[in-house]
Amino acid sequence: MAIKKVGVLGCGLMGSGIAQVSAMAGYDVVVLEAEQKAIDKGFSGIEKSLGKLSEKPVEKGGITAQQKDAARARLKGTLNKQDLADCDIIIEAIIENVDIKKTMYADLDGIVKKDCIFATNTSSISVTELMAATKRPERFIGLHFFNPVPLMKLVEVVRTIATAPDVFETAVEFGKSVGKVPVRTSDKTGFIVNRLLVPYLLDAIRAYEEGIGSISDIDNAMKLGCGYPMGPFTLLDFVGLDTTYYITHVMFDEFKERRFASPALLKRMVLAGWYGRKSGNGFYNYADPNSPKENRF
Ligand code: 3HC
Repeated sequence: MAIKKVGVLGCGLMGSGIAQVSAMAGYDVVVLEAEQKAIDKGFSGIEKSLGKLSEKPVEKGGITAQQKDAARARLKGTLNKQDLADCDIIIEAIIENVDIKKTMYADLDGIVKKDCIFATNTSSISVTELMAATKRPERFIGLHFFNPVPLMKLVEVVRTIATAPDVFETAVEFGKSVGKVPVRTSDKTGFIVNRLLVPYLLDAIRAYEEGIGSISDIDNAMKLGCGYPMGPFTLLDFVGLDTTYYITHVMFDEFKERRFASPALLKRMVLAGWYGRKSGNGFYNYADPNSPKENRF
């Protein structure tokens, strides 16, 4: 099946990134949001990212000024679901709320073409549960991208027991076409990356609670000792503590294992509204975003 037009639901961090890489790959892209100001915010992030990429040499992953303009011209924001009617694939990247997602899919089911593929970028909600709310179970898949989407090379392609093999392969090829390396996986909570990453991040918090080292020392240890691009606390703040806390609930509910349970400190930070980089405070304080200061608990 040839994909020409991509619909993206949500213009937040993930939705705008997915829209951007799709437009850069030559697809026509329409992004649906509930409010114009969300589109404006997402598109200004895309503009910044395209700007950074166009300053980089092409051989180092950069783009030319013409490619930047062409990508921008292929992107359209809309508040009207009808504008997604002729999309070949729709990738949902809205809030991690099962009911809101199900309602969105149910609305779109009656609007889009019969053979349109539905994809979800969810990191933790069951793809099968979302699929079951649609009239196209065989055309439903997970496409899990990573933040920041324009830079991270991975996409997890997730099949359910109902996904048609040709739809799965189309999704794998789509992932490659937007410059990602697809890995094939099935609908088990957390897929591959979060299954391994989340216990590691939670263990870092527990180790800190036990006094093994300071936040910056634990970060430096993992960065410099293991070659990770970010230490666990920098990454937690980057992913969002609210997002991580939500994921722990879904994963603990599925596996009932302590390694997926939220440490007390993570819960307290989320209750206090300390969500990490996006809220200005987390394991680090971002009053000066260029020079974050570690917190002590
Ligand atoms: N678009 C385009 N360019 C960008 C960009 C963006 N969104 N963000 C950063 N850049 C550019 C910078 O301008 C910089 O360019 P330069 O080399 O020309 O100066 C270059 O990319 C490198 O950026 P930085 O110097 O700021 O920082 P790093 O070298 O540390 O790279 C990083 C940034 C790629 C984010 C790197 O730190 C990294 O790989 N971190 C780990 C991220 C990660 O693990 N993400 C996955 C999170 S888990 C997830 O998403 C799953 C969810 O379900 C929880």
